[in-house]
Amino acid sequence: MADVRILLISGSTRQGSGNTAALRTVQATAPDGIAAELYDGLAALPAFSPDQDERPPGPAAGLRARIAASDALLFCTPEYAGTLPGSLKNLLDWTVGGGEIYGKPVGWINVAVGGRGTGAEEHLAMVLRYVGAVAVPGACVRVPVPREAVGSDGTVADPQLRAALGAVLTALAEHSGG
Ligand SMILES: Cc1cc2nc3c(=O)[nH]c(=O)nc-3n(C[C@H](O)[C@H](O)[C@H](O)COP(=O)(O)O)c2cc1C
Repeated sequence: MADVRILLISGSTRQGSGNTAALRTVQATAPDGIAAELYDGLAALPAFSPDQDERPPGPAAGLRARIAASDALLFCTPEYAGTLPGSLKNLLDWTVGGGEIYGKPVGWINVAVGGRGTGAEEHLAMVLRYVGAVAVPGACVRVPVPREAVGSDGTVADPQLRAALGAVLTALAEHSGG
């Protein structure tokens, strides 16, 4: 049976990002049968314009192709000013016209500590609903990752955190056809 392909999308463009580190860790711990790829084009996406929706520029076309080729999407995003970073909303705006997310299983990990990041999580859920994604309950979770848990290699070494992060990928894969 073919691998389940899961695209990992971080909402942070920050060097040393905890959200990206969580997804790198998910990727590093992915079991056989799950191909997890980290999307690294967020910062290069141009601002969405409806004028370009039918013939999107290269980076946006590439994004759509990678989403279309994936069985599921896993997001991990910081909260900026009570909501999603504009860059991640911009990414999602590029998918509205293309429809690639419609019917696709999705999950997200809120890595914010201290019960923070609720606004980002709620708004991500809302936008994903709007584009027709299917949120997988067991893959939409909080796994608080303290800043000091991110190692110099850009991953999380703590075994309990690695297990909790890896479990999200497995839960999402179980609801995604290969
Ligand atoms: C411009 C800006 C706005 C922020 N706004 C919020 C906010 O509204 N709520 C919150 O909980 N954290 C907020 N934060 C904190 C970030 O969510 C937090 O630093 C997060 O860990 C960054 O994720 P990263 O490590 O993946 O870059 C903000 C940070 C920045 C830079």
